[in-house]
Amino acid sequence: MLSLLQKAARAGLGLLHRPLARAFGPVENPLNHLGALIIFFCWIVLISGIWLLIFFRTSVSGAFESLEYLTYEQWYLGGIMRSLHRYASDAAIAALFVHIVKEFAFDTYRLKRWFSWVTGVPLVWMIFVLGITGYWLVWDELAQYVAITSAELLDRLPIFTDSMAGNFLSDAAMSDRFFTLMAFLHLVGLPIFLVFGIWLHVFRLTRPSITPPRRLMAGTLLCMLVLSFVFPAVSQDKADLATATQSVDLDWFYLHMYPLVQAGSPGLVWLLLVGISCLICLAPWLPPGQMAEAAIVDLENCNGCQRCADDCPFGAIQMQARTDGRKYEQEAVVDSDLCARCGICVGSCPTATPFRSRGSLIPGIDLPELTAADMRGTIQSVAETLTGNSRILSFSCSGSSTAATLRKAGEAVVEVKCMGQLPPPFLDFILSRDLADAILLTGCSDGRCRYRFGTHWTEDRITRKRDPRLRKRIDEDRICRAWEDYPEYQGSVMKQLAAMRKSLPHKADDDEATAA
Ligand code: HEM
Ligand code: SF4
Ligand code: SF4
Repeated sequence: MLSLLQKAARAGLGLLHRPLARAFGPVENPLNHLGALIIFFCWIVLISGIWLLIFFRTSVSGAFESLEYLTYEQWYLGGIMRSLHRYASDAAIAALFVHIVKEFAFDTYRLKRWFSWVTGVPLVWMIFVLGITGYWLVWDELAQYVAITSAELLDRLPIFTDSMAGNFLSDAAMSDRFFTLMAFLHLVGLPIFLVFGIWLHVFRLTRPSITPPRRLMAGTLLCMLVLSFVFPAVSQDKADLATATQSVDLDWFYLHMYPLVQAGSPGLVWLLLVGISCLICLAPWLPPGQMAEAAIVDLENCNGCQRCADDCPFGAIQMQARTDGRKYEQEAVVDSDLCARCGICVGSCPTATPFRSRGSLIPGIDLPELTAADMRGTIQSVAETLTGNSRILSFSCSGSSTAATLRKAGEAVVEVKCMGQLPPPFLDFILSRDLADAILLTGCSDGRCRYRFGTHWTEDRITRKRDPRLRKRIDEDRICRAWEDYPEYQGSVMKQLAAMRKSLPHKADDDEATAA
């Protein structure tokens, strides 16, 4: 059931991915920077909000007029800031929704990776309450509707002794003190909690991506500016508590639950909101699963170089003073509660080399589920099945759709947990020992790697920008990389493979032999 839902979510994202990749290119694709985009939209909201605050009057009588002044008299700046404030808030909700779907679809929230997921839930609540209190402050008919419906919702909770709805019986009953409280929540209280919440959300991740690429920021800001000029955000009629609101234009991004309060009941809405939130909080353990053993350090082989700690995407490795009396200063220690079992640390360990002739292959750090020795054994046995003069050995991340496609096409495939698990000396080993003529590495595009940095580190290691670097004696062109894992790109991976086979120097001899 879970995997079916995830498959459906991946297919949905695949539909979005294609046009976005075409419009923005692979690096700037917004789907690969959703968390960072939400933060960028929050920045726009904050900066435009500061401008609005300078002119805003926090009183029942002054709020509406001060916003009218900004919208019509100061349309060229205040009006644009108001529109940017609204559109960036809406964009944050849209990005938030896709962010949640994406983390779910690619299974990056389960078991040991529960922390970012669970801390995301209060963020959703905060963003919604921020938006709702924002609409309240405009004090137009929509604000009146929001205020009355919110009061009905709050009255359903057994925490207030007086009826909240009583505040909205007449303009006289609506006090400036209450209005100032809303303004405080919207302008100070909630933003402070949101900043803290975002920090908490990402603090366990190494190098969290909190800034989108510049061109993506410029592009989205430009879109919002154009939207602000063409469809400026305006107020609806001024609130008048003496008359009931007939019809209001809702912002469906923030207020989609509000019609349910009237159509159903406040109790039903609370049940839905609390129920969905609890379900999301429990999702990392639904169904409960068992994780394989965490990465283990072998002190005999660890020289304390710190590369594994630098490369681990989940901050699961700490360096500590040597405990075994050997000449090195430090040793690596794995926190099994943080370890996502990706194997990227094995890919970065200088002692993970398959060239060892004596003793078994035990690197400084290894993944018990799929050890470096297992990888070498599988590579050797799969390579033996290769025949002909254009032998290509393919690598895929475990369970990826590319692995299935390649196998179906009869290709020789070795699966690793994450492409970042494969240390560059293994590539050297395959080519220099003539186990294959070329290698195809496949995996997710950068920014979408299930283990965050697998693709990035692999690319950097092969292009010799990051240790452990691919040795110079190896021709980089014999290692083809296909970084795309959505089902609709499988055709292009196969095309890349065919082109590679054709370009191999042996191919010409092979063809001649076949012709003869
Ligand atoms: C204000 C709202 C949010 C912001 C600004 C935000 C931002 C981020 C950022 C910057 C990252 C790190 C991306 C990276 O470098 O790999 C991230 C990761 C993540 N977020 Fe959010 N997020 C928000 C809400 C949520 C929500 C509501 C959920 C789910 C309920 C969620 C689930 C996750 C998960 C599962 C990860 C990946 C953690 C991992 O790789 O282990 N986020 N988010
Ligand atoms: S397996 Fe992955 S998460 Fe665990 S220690 Fe190694 S790099 Fe970090
Ligand atoms: S990369 Fe290997 S040798 Fe270096 S600290 Fe980590 S386990 Fe030890």
